[in-house]
Parts: sequence; C-alpha cells; structure tokens
Amino acid sequence: RRTVALIVAAGSGTRAGGTLPKQFATVAGRPMLMHAVTAMSAHPAIDAVTVVVAEGQLDHAKAVLAAGGVTDATVIVGGSTRRDSVLRGIAALSDLDHVLVHDAARPFLPAGVISAVVAALTNSDAAVPVLPVADTLARGATTLTGRMLGEVVPREAVYRVQTPQGFRIAKLRAAHAAWPADEDASDDAQMVRRVGGSVALVQGDPMLDKVTHPDDFAAAEARAPYESR
Ligand code: CTP
Ligand code: MG
Repeated sequence: RRTVALIVAAGSGTRAGGTLPKQFATVAGRPMLMHAVTAMSAHPAIDAVTVVVAEGQLDHAKAVLAAGGVTDATVIVGGSTRRDSVLRGIAALSDLDHVLVHDAARPFLPAGVISAVVAALTNSDAAVPVLPVADTLARGATTLTGRMLGEVVPREAVYRVQTPQGFRIAKLRAAHAAWPADEDASDDAQMVRRVGGSVALVQGDPMLDKVTHPDDFAAAEARAPYESR
C-alpha cells in the first residue's frame, strides 16, 4: 500500500496575524511548516510528502524546505479555501492507496498518531485523531434579556477533531466531488462521512493543537518536544 502525506500550508493566517503567513513563522527554532514535513518524511509508513502552498509563497516554500534539508517533497499551489487546497492537492497525486491530510498549523506531530491513523485505514475508509472535551459544553440561547445559557451538550458525545486525517484515496476523491460547491468544510473527514464513508476515531494528542491565534505561538513554544527546541 502506498501512502502519501499531503500537508496543507496555503492559508493566509489571518487570525494569527504577523508579517508572514503563520506556517512560515518560526516555532521552536524552525519555520512552523518544517516540523510537520520532517515528521511525515521520517515516518516509515509514509512513502512521499506533498506540500500545498499559496501561489505567492511557492518560491519561498521551496527555499524553506531546501534550507531545512528536505529535498524529496513535492510543492504545489493551493486554493482560496482549505477545501480547495486539499482538492488541488489530491488532484496532483497519483499512484497511491492512502493519503494523510495534515494542517501545517499543527507543527508537533507524534509518530504514534501517524501510525494509529495509518493502521485504522485497514478497516475504515478514513481515520481521524480526536481528543475528549474537558470543559462543560452548552448552547447559547437568545432571550428577551440577551444571550443566556442554553442547554448543556453532554461532553461525552463530542470530540475535538485534529489532523492528520487518513483516507482511502478513492473515498476522499468521491467525497470532494460530491460536496456542494457553495458549502464550506473545515476538514475532510466530515466530507467522507457525508458520502457514507466510515471514519474511525483514533487517539489524538494535545501536542497536535493548532496554532490559530497570536497567543498560540507561545503555547506551541512551551509544549515543543525537547528534540525540536
Ligand atoms: N489552508 C490551506 N489553504 C487555504 C486555507 C487554509 O492550505 N486556502 C491550510 C492552512 O495553511 C492551515 C490549515 O489549512 O495549515 C488550517 O487552516 P487555518 O488554521 O484556518 O489557517 P489559515 O486559513 O491560514 O488561518 P486563518 O483562517 O486565520 O486565515
Ligand atoms: Mg482558515
């Protein structure tokens, strides 16, 4: 079985701010993107790595990868939404059975999570790492006196869904083809589920939390694994 890692890094990082898109900002001593790329390319279950970047970052991304000693990754141009970037990514891939789609904005990628996602594809069309929710969850309710506490959502019923998300490539392609053009999707697993694919849950890791807001950079530095500091 041939397995390819597809790392999506074509976003503009609007919420994180900064002069460079967040995936090129330095985290734990390297451009954020490099952490996930090297974790994927070092893993024995991953046969190739493709990175999706914005058109204006193509040369910069290639230079960053070369400077980081990565010479075997393919770099391609993404689109204006995450969904479009993944679609362009999978369109550029050939000769594969499984793909692991991963956010460049989740720099610290434990090898065990990659292994678990790949292993789950033996029995499922897709697999996603998830974490339980610790806080009480509740709906908001709009009343005459303003926004009030609504019904509690049992937290045992919900998960935080992370990446890397693994897919049988034919299922992911079918899911993207079937998804309505005017509907956004924040990840690919929900699309595969919509076309009737089975999506297995595997154990996620707090290490995989996404860098989204400015404060998340400091949090990422603080949890950086020793070997990447
Ligand atoms: N992404 C992408 N192409 C896009 C948008 C997002 O490849 N057009 C990628 C991002 O680079 C990131 C991942 O999808 O690695 C998760 O997206 P998010 O955290 O939302 O990153 P951004 O879209 O860059 O940030 P923001 O939404 O704050 O602008
Ligand atoms: Mg975004």
